[in-house]
Amino acid sequence: MIVRVPWRGVDRRGERLELRYAERRDAARYLEHMARIVRETPWMLQGPEDSVPDVAEEQDVLEELARRDNCVCVVAARPGPPPGRQPILGSVTLLGGRGRRTRHAAELAMGVQQDAWGAGIGSLLMEAALTWARESPILSRVSLQVFSDNVVAYNLYRSRGFVDEGVMERHAKWDGRYGDLIGMGLEVGP
Ligand SMILES: CC(C)(COP(=O)(O)OP(=O)(O)OC[C@H]1O[C@@H](n2cnc3c(N)ncnc32)[C@H](O)[C@@H]1OP(=O)(O)O)[C@@H](O)C(=O)NCCC(=O)NCCS
Repeated sequence: MIVRVPWRGVDRRGERLELRYAERRDAARYLEHMARIVRETPWMLQGPEDSVPDVAEEQDVLEELARRDNCVCVVAARPGPPPGRQPILGSVTLLGGRGRRTRHAAELAMGVQQDAWGAGIGSLLMEAALTWARESPILSRVSLQVFSDNVVAYNLYRSRGFVDEGVMERHAKWDGRYGDLIGMGLEVGP
């Protein structure tokens, strides 16, 4: 499915939704969104105990993502309030390599807040990121890492064509237990 940003429609629950590029003025809401996700789920590499950028630093991060030609950050929100005031329900980021040898390859990271799970927002964000990647003249590969027991995310990635590329065993450790990460990849260009 092709999902071009900006996108407006309804989610699977019939609630209005928009997908748009993150902007500098989203920084505070974006940080709230990330803090919420890392609190609600164990499936992120970042944990609630980790330090995070302040708003000024995050403004610079979002501005840099918008400026770089092999990176993108898309957020999902309910239409209504202007950007900067809208709570962010979900996000997807493609972070392309900085050097000449890895400019074609981007790492994907995504998350949706728990009370919005199952409404199709994650699927829409994934389609938006993949549409952007396929239409990019630079990117030819998207990769990601997913915890081996994160079944919903793993199935979402498989359903969009990502293939397993290896397992990083015991790569994450928290609360006295280890987690394995599956590396996955998808070709998006020649
Ligand atoms: C993984 C995640 C992004 C999915 O977001 P979402 O908005 O719930 O996704 P969707 O509602 O679009 O559902 C995606 C697919 O999973 C399926 N799904 C969703 N919740 C499910 C559940 N509880 N059980 C089984 N399948 C489920 C949906 O049917 C859909 O499949 P389809 O496209 O074939 O219909 C979200 O669960 C999340 O943010 N999890 C925590 C953070 C995380 O794991 N991030 C990824 C790190 S690699």
